[in-house]
Amino acid sequence: MSFLQSLLGGGSNELIGLDISSSAVKLIELARRGERYSVEAYAVEPLPANVVNEKQITDPKSVGEAIARAIARAGTRTRNAAIAVAGASVITKTITMSASLKEADMEEQIKAEADQYIPYSLDDVNLDFQVIGVSPKNPANVDVQLAACRKELIEQRVAALEIAGLVAKVIDIESYALENACPLLYHQMPDLGRHKTIALFDIGASMTSLLVLHDRNPVYTREQAFGGRQLTDDIMRFYNMSYADAGRGKRMGGLPENYETEVLAGFISDLTLQIDRALQFFFSAATQHRNIDALVLAGGCAHIPGIDVAVQDRLKLQTSVARPFAQMGVAARAKPAQLARDEASLLIAAGLALRAFDEVEA
Ligand SMILES: Nc1ncnc2c1ncn2[C@@H]1O[C@H](COP(=O)(O)OP(=O)(O)OP(=O)(O)O)[C@@H](O)[C@H]1O
Ligand SMILES: [Mg+2]
Repeated sequence: MSFLQSLLGGGSNELIGLDISSSAVKLIELARRGERYSVEAYAVEPLPANVVNEKQITDPKSVGEAIARAIARAGTRTRNAAIAVAGASVITKTITMSASLKEADMEEQIKAEADQYIPYSLDDVNLDFQVIGVSPKNPANVDVQLAACRKELIEQRVAALEIAGLVAKVIDIESYALENACPLLYHQMPDLGRHKTIALFDIGASMTSLLVLHDRNPVYTREQAFGGRQLTDDIMRFYNMSYADAGRGKRMGGLPENYETEVLAGFISDLTLQIDRALQFFFSAATQHRNIDALVLAGGCAHIPGIDVAVQDRLKLQTSVARPFAQMGVAARAKPAQLARDEASLLIAAGLALRAFDEVEA
């Protein structure tokens, strides 16, 4: 599902997935031959601190310039992009409508009644809808999912893209993009995820998203404000370093010798605690699920060396680091060695890039 897509035109076969996140602009372009995908282009361009805050772009110019650098570095000619807005900025609602309505009539009726469903004026939101299927309660009806996003949030992103000469062809929701990327992780799940309950943690810079899959279907999601930015802040404070140097040190090494014991160890304890707590929330909210068969760690924090072993030891759960591109070919231009260092943080970008192959509605 890609919401808000119809507002801006249909899908396209040439599309880059662009994740504008709090620490970086991340770009992935995929190609498909038969059933096999390959990575054609990729780039991660770090952003200065606080130009994307709480998922809002506060400085479109800096972001636009970072996108332009990412495009240049990736060496792609594709100018159509799929981007995402944060789930918290989108209101979704499922309503029931008569199955006999044509799409255009459905749209009219939704617009006329929208104020019943969403707490904003229609002038301030982009509204999209999608028929999910026949209503289970009454076969004469269909369930329709509405999505509304404040125009301002979309406009910020579109403005940043325009600075880099890109067109937003698909606007998705982050959590859906994450779900859309999950098939790329089946290969590392026990029994390929079939009949298993798998918890995927995307631990980014400012946010941690939990997505639980059961038998490959999403059954639970939750976001919490926790991420690698806390570790960056700890490093800045402990060693009196700049944001950029602390960020580079974490990824590339070269921090003082006592970093692991004095700074990193505390962060890993916190991270494990956050995972454990999120799982407890899941068990109490979804009482039909009593256990988790495996954990998959994603987001930049999954690249902390040894994090999978540390989490597995403490939580006694089989744990691996997300490898969405493990089964893909990687073009030389997409710098395979570097891609491997960023792989786990690219799930949302990959989920967006996969939109290129969605069936386009007639
Ligand atoms: N090798 C590494 N070791 C330690 N930390 C790393 C490593 N690689 C990336 N990180 C950290 O991961 C975080 C970035 O992860 P990611 O790219 O998933 O975040 P984001 O998507 O920008 O954030 P959010 O989703 O919260 O907006 C940063 O804090 C970064 O320093
Ligand atoms: Mg992220």
